[in-house]
Amino acid sequence: MMRLLVTGGAGFVGANFVRHVIEHSDHEVAVLDALTYAGHRASLAGLPADRVRFVHGDVADARLVDGLVGDCDAVVHFAAESHNDRSLRDPRIFLHSNVVGTFTLLEAVRRHNTRLHHISTDEVYGDLELDSPERFTETTAYNPSSPYSSTKAGSDMLVRAWCRSFGVRATISNCSNNYGPYQHVEKFIPRQITNVLRGLRPKLYGGGRNVRDWIHVEDHSSAVLAILETGRPGQTYLIGADGECSNREVVELVLALMGRPAQAYDQVADRPGHDQRYAIDATKLRTELGWRPRFGDFERGLASTIDWYRTHEAWWAPSKEDTEAFYAKHGQ
Ligand code: NAD
Ligand code: DAU
Repeated sequence: MMRLLVTGGAGFVGANFVRHVIEHSDHEVAVLDALTYAGHRASLAGLPADRVRFVHGDVADARLVDGLVGDCDAVVHFAAESHNDRSLRDPRIFLHSNVVGTFTLLEAVRRHNTRLHHISTDEVYGDLELDSPERFTETTAYNPSSPYSSTKAGSDMLVRAWCRSFGVRATISNCSNNYGPYQHVEKFIPRQITNVLRGLRPKLYGGGRNVRDWIHVEDHSSAVLAILETGRPGQTYLIGADGECSNREVVELVLALMGRPAQAYDQVADRPGHDQRYAIDATKLRTELGWRPRFGDFERGLASTIDWYRTHEAWWAPSKEDTEAFYAKHGQ
């Protein structure tokens, strides 16, 4: 049994991880979350109070973080600003939460000699050609494109430096695009599902040929728990489930699963600097730790995600109007 500190545990992936830990281990969890526009206490509803406690605060608050790190056996660090489109309009907060936040945590785990797992993204590697067979591996050079991905790359570099120079016991994982329940409606898949539910048309950036490598959020969580428990400190592990799909294919599948005509979407302004393609080679995670995805059927996962949004309007409706107003301002 470990006492875990999970930063960003009220966000999409962090809350799924907390649920996963409660169901699949006997660890106890303290969640530290600033409850930004992306954090929801409701995403943690129903979890046992004797195993999960919630602390409202900023991961860049050094005093608060030092106290919490001193009180746990390991930290899993999800807290971050996570949306590319927001980072293109207002990057400052990304530097604060993603870079200064990670630095603050690293200083605390260094002082207390506490195990850390840092959650990162495949976007640190930049993008791949649309029609190449190439995939990202742990040795691919960093080449981030957006303010979001460059701050995540910066945070990974800090973790690597603190491992090498100060002997911090940390692992890093870089995962591909997650989907599933409790994802904010600003993100691609929930935006299109909730548009259809609201009688609006899905919005595809540019020509929609860009490719993302989709993984169910449950598979991300099981991989993170495996790395935390059995990964080698100082190592990076890529997480992916061979789910490459173009954005146009995803929109057409959402429309088909929701009983709408295949062409019932709008093409809107493209994202500046839009990455073409991401693809993960997860051989290291599979061979070294024996991890396997359990939710690999994308169509089935998408259908159950659509059902979740259909039945959880109270969770997503309060964010929908502001999100669409944000996009409308930018022709998206
Ligand atoms: P999210 O935006 O849904 O959640 C982020 C959470 O972090 C929110 O609860 C928010 O309140 C909290 N937070 C933000 N700034 C904070 C701060 N300064 N102090 C404390 N809490 C703060 O994001 P997500 O999609 O759940 O992503 C979580 C992590 O996983 C991020 O580090 C992201 O880079 C990484 N990741 C996400 C994906 C994906 O597809 N969603 C894929 C790979 C990696
Ligand atoms: O690859 C991992 C990353 O995946 C994570 O690090 C990020 O936190 C997460 O947000 C996600 O980044 P993307 O930028 O790939 O995800 P997003 O959901 O914003 O967009 C997915 C694709 O869909 C991208 O090519 C842009 C496109 N898109 C997005 C929206 C919101 C559209 O075509 N229309 C839309 O309305």
